[in-house]
Amino acid sequence: MKGAARPFFILAVCYAVAGMVLGIAMAAMHDHTQMPTHAHIMVAGFLMSSVFAFFYHLFPEIGSRPMARIHFYVQAISGVVLVASLFVLLQGTEQIEPVTALASIGFLAGMLLFIWNARPVLRAA
Ligand code: HEM
Ligand code: HEM
Repeated sequence: MKGAARPFFILAVCYAVAGMVLGIAMAAMHDHTQMPTHAHIMVAGFLMSSVFAFFYHLFPEIGSRPMARIHFYVQAISGVVLVASLFVLLQGTEQIEPVTALASIGFLAGMLLFIWNARPVLRAA
């Protein structure tokens, strides 16, 4: 794996381990308060990062562009802040909500960057 594919794949496996540890902790403690955090780490984190990794692996000429790196940093930073602040929010610290909201917008911006990067594939139908 080259270009942006590799960091996205590394990010995906980190999300997977963190999300599963949280899932096991929730199950063990019979406390599902953090269910939305677990769900977003697994699906928005692990699964989406895996999709980005395999996309950039399939299209290495796109994955090696600087814009693919920029996409990685925007998606990774906003995603980690999103799930970390959601965790804190659900623990009861409501003042952190604006951080979660900003991170959500950053996460959407990441998705829009991905669509921008995927233009050649979208066009060549
Ligand atoms: C170590 C493995 C895992 C454990 C122990 C675990 C545990 C849990 C628990 C306890 C819940 C809360 C259920 C509820 O309150 O109704 C949950 C929900 C959820 N999990 Fe996991 N999970 C694991 C792996 C995964 C994986 C691999 C994914 C996806 C790739 C995933 C995605 C979800 C989602 C989307 C929900 C929310 C379901 C809903 O909306 O009802 N989990 N999980
Ligand atoms: C802009 C970022 C996002 C925001 C602000 C957001 C917000 C939300 C909200 C408010 C809920 C309802 C939670 C509840 O009822 O307790 C939810 C649920 C869910 N979202 Fe997201 N979401 C985002 C991105 C995503 C993405 C990208 C995915 C998957 C690729 C996803 C997958 C899910 C799933 C599986 C659930 C059901 C599990 C649960 O209830 O926690 N979300 N989301």
